[in-house]
Formats: sequence, structure tokens, C-alpha cells
Amino acid sequence: MGTIRHSPQDILGAGFLEDRQAPSGRRRAARQGPRASHEARVERFYSHGVERYGSFHDNYLNFGLWEPGCAIFVEAAEALIERVAATIALSSASVLLDVACGMGSQDRFLMRRFSPRAIEGLDLTAKHIAIAQRRNLYPNVTYRVGDACALPFPDGAFTHVMAIEGIVHFNTRERFFREAHRVLAPGGRLGASDFFLGRPPRTAIEERLLRWCSAAWHVPRENASTVEAYRAALEGSGFADVHLEVVSDRVIPGYYAEQMRPEIRRQLYAIRGWIIGRLSHVIDALMYRLYRAGLVGYLLVSAQKAPE
Ligand SMILES: C[S@@+](CC[C@H](N)C(=O)[O-])C[C@H]1O[C@@H](n2cnc3c(N)ncnc32)[C@H](O)[C@@H]1O
Repeated sequence: MGTIRHSPQDILGAGFLEDRQAPSGRRRAARQGPRASHEARVERFYSHGVERYGSFHDNYLNFGLWEPGCAIFVEAAEALIERVAATIALSSASVLLDVACGMGSQDRFLMRRFSPRAIEGLDLTAKHIAIAQRRNLYPNVTYRVGDACALPFPDGAFTHVMAIEGIVHFNTRERFFREAHRVLAPGGRLGASDFFLGRPPRTAIEERLLRWCSAAWHVPRENASTVEAYRAALEGSGFADVHLEVVSDRVIPGYYAEQMRPEIRRQLYAIRGWIIGRLSHVIDALMYRLYRAGLVGYLLVSAQKAPE
């Protein structure tokens, strides 16, 4: 267990205290002092306990695609990646940018399964990238720390961009779509898995729960998009041939069941420390309830930059 000290705002999203205190302007700034950026908070959230992950869940951090009969987390995680990659026709000719690549497990899987010409993995969390680099087996797979909303690559550098589950944190999702469109070559494809807002909240309690969950999980408010808004954001960023497939029922219950297993809970507490481990469980439980209420869903995305 770590002895890391946390302020509430380190652990929770910036919006959490804002929502409760609701002071504005200079008074709020004076009370709260200089604050870490959204990106610094996200990185801190994901950095807790990374050095203790070992081979837990083969270092996958996604919810997985739980096809009927699947009961093993790593199989679900890889089924999700395989599905997204197949949807955008990843092949041995592809030059892939993998945004929010986490600890690189998905890139090793993609190399085994699709043998793309090259993969550039990018993630905000330096500790994730350090592990990805240490475990990398391929000379044509490279990694760097970076922000999905300010991609350090020239225009048209990639045939494909993938983003498995990081997008919900990006500040903002729409900025990332514009960046993904910029770094794709004409005809290039974006493939992703992401969360969406199933419907607007109907009651003050739903509104609060949604806001709390978003703040605790570092989701910018602008990213609470319905499927229609999601499509509009992609098309507004220049993408065509947009396909959005809602797969919530094959993702969220399977992940929730896995995370609630006593053995998994114990391991997660040992890895993440008590505070973040507990917080993560509260977020998981809350998100499951929001899913059951039809407020939160999960979708697969594919879209294309128009060929010239
Ligand atoms: C839920 S994890 C998914 C990781 C990986 N795709 C997987 O499936 O195991 C989300 C990842 O998004 C990364 N992330 C969050 N915000 C980011 C940003 N602005 N730019 C790049 N990566 C970001 C986090 O560091 C984390 O590794």
C-alpha cells in the first residue's frame, strides 16, 4: 500500500468541489489556490500503484467486450480491441497511431493479430508509457508521452488512429476528433470505444449522480454526449462514413461482475492503495447503476477521413 497523501481534488475531478461549493470567479481562485490542470489530475489518477500492477489483468485497463460464454477478463479486453481494429480494417499495410495506449498490452496484441507496418503509442500517463516501452518486443512499435488533444505528429502521418476508452477523459472529445482527423492521411480511419450519455438526467438526483461520477472519474462536462451529439461531433470534425454501434449490454455488466469479484477487489486495493481502490469501486458501482438507469452507455466507433 502506498503512503501517498491526497487532497480531495487530487482524487476527485475538479468539478466535484466546484459543484458542492459553487463559488465563482476570484473568490473561488483565492480559496482554492493554483490547481493542477485537468491532464495532471488524469495522470495522477492513473499513476497510483502502476508499479504494483505486475501481470494483473495483463495490464489491460478497458471494460472488455463480453461475448456470450466469455468469462475471462483478458479475453474480453482483447475481443474489444480485435473488434475495433477489424472494424477499421487494420492490416499489415497500416501505420497506426494508438492514442491512450495504456501500458501497451493492446499493441502487442495488435502486432500478433494484425501485424501493422508500424504502431506509434501515445498516452498521457508517463508511468504507463515506461511500462509499455519496457515490455515492447517490436522495433516498429514506439511510444511517447503526450496529450491526445495536441498530437505531436504532422498532418496525414497515419493510415489509422485507434483510441480504446481514453476518449472520455480527453479535454475535449471534440478537440481530439479534430486532431485525429488532422493526423490521418486522406481515406484514413478512426476506430474507438467510448462511453456516451444514454439520455439526459430526468431528476435532480440523477443529475447529481451523473455529475459526481463524471467529476470523480475526470470526465470534462463537454464530453457528456448522446449518440446523436457524438455523431455530430465526428461529422463536424470532418469525418464521414461514421458508424456508431451501441454495445453497452455486452460491455458494462461483464466488467462490473469482474470488478466486484472479491479476489479482484483485494488485488486492486493492494495495487491502487486503499483510497484510490475504494474510489474506483464506488465509481464502478455508480456507473453500473447509471447504466441500468439508461444514463450511461458504451459504443464502438468507426469513421473515415474523406479520400482525396
Ligand atoms: C481506461 S485507460 C485505457 C488504456 C488502454 N487503452 C487499455 O485498454 O488498456 C485510459 C487511458 O487514457 C489515458 N489518457 C487519459 N487522458 C489522456 C489524454 N489527454 N491523452 C492521452 N492519453 C490519455 C490514460 O493515461 C489511460 O492510460
